[in-house]
Amino acid sequence: MGKYELTKELETGNIFIDKEHRELLQAANDLLDACGAGKGREYMSKTIKFLNDYVDKHFANEERLQKNSGYPNFEAHKAFHEKYKQKLRDITSGISSDNPTIGELSSLNAHIGLLITHIRTEDKKLGAFLNKK
Ligand SMILES: [Fe+2]
Repeated sequence: MGKYELTKELETGNIFIDKEHRELLQAANDLLDACGAGKGREYMSKTIKFLNDYVDKHFANEERLQKNSGYPNFEAHKAFHEKYKQKLRDITSGISSDNPTIGELSSLNAHIGLLITHIRTEDKKLGAFLNKK
């Protein structure tokens, strides 16, 4: 269960990227579900770690695809990734308890919303570029 899903309009057309985006949104859903369900500290920190690690891994994979294909917007895209990772760590480190506040939850939701906007714009541009190669 969860509120985020990779709808058709969010698909980049690159099977590899789309698969990781699906898993990433699933990891975000798992964390949000855990926040609402009082799953306990240990489960929360496991879910937080998984989301951060998965974002790191996925961004690195995307950056590798960009480098290898000579993607022209690499620097700006990577700069977004760096900032995004940092902010995600800031937000999730505040949600360490099993009882996150409304404010913490809304920051997390807003930050996931930012990722979805990034997918809809920048990652779709990347997908189109890779498909033309
Ligand atoms: Fe990206």
